Amino acid sequence: MFDIIKDQIGNAKKIIFVTGAGISQESGIPTFRGKDGLWRNYDAMKLATIDAFYENPKLVWEWYNERRRNIFAAQPNEGHNAIAELEKYAKVVVLTQNIDGLHQKAGSTEVLELHGSIIKIKCSVCNFRDEILTEFSEIPPLCNCGNILRPDVVWFGESLPHDVWQKAVISASEGDLMVIVGTSLVVSPANILPIYAKQNDAVLIEINPEKTEMSSEMDLTIRSTSALTLPEFISIFKGV
Ligand code: APR
Repeated sequence: MFDIIKDQIGNAKKIIFVTGAGISQESGIPTFRGKDGLWRNYDAMKLATIDAFYENPKLVWEWYNERRRNIFAAQPNEGHNAIAELEKYAKVVVLTQNIDGLHQKAGSTEVLELHGSIIKIKCSVCNFRDEILTEFSEIPPLCNCGNILRPDVVWFGESLPHDVWQKAVISASEGDLMVIVGTSLVVSPANILPIYAKQNDAVLIEINPEKTEMSSEMDLTIRSTSALTLPEFISIFKGV
């Protein structure tokens, strides 16, 4: 699979992963735009915008509770595990669009959550932030300040957390190898991260069963799944 750039891979010191919903698909979590993707079955504008939240906070909370239950029941797969194991052989930073926390559950230590986390909540008005591990009895739950609490995730039309985005751009600009796994690269600004890596002459690898917006920019594209491909990728570092 990786023969044509095996040496470049083996010599990589700082490896940046950009991941999306596809890496968690083999853990039983649906993607957004794939065959049974969430946005095929649900209207994103009714569930993942601030206007939708103010219009019907109960519906939005019910949907995120359902997603949280699925995510809590899910386990990292061979793709997540391989990325975590790679930390033994190289400096690894994961820039993920996923809110499921499966990279951290697999043991990855440097993970930037670009779109927030399903276990985090915040007040829609004051600076209150917290984590939730059990569901609220009443939804939408209220903050002590009296305003409604919301999932601490990034909705369409919202900016990414400034500090997280800044760190992501720095990491993307410093890596000598970037592996783009399980993302359609249709959502910005995450989809420009490979451009920062290219400007740093990094080698770009795409792992995705389907073509993406940036496939033509890649040094290597692997049309297969992350759980099948990433264990073979790290075997290069293990020297097996
Ligand atoms: N292994 C690797 N890639 C896969 C797999 C798999 N097992 N299964 C599906 N894919 C690929 C699909 O071919 C597709 O290109 O993963 C990609 C998933 O794309 P999307 O569903 O668009 O998800 P993502 O790119 O993460 O979406 C970005 O959009 O809806 C918002 O905030 C949400 O973070 C999300 C963002």
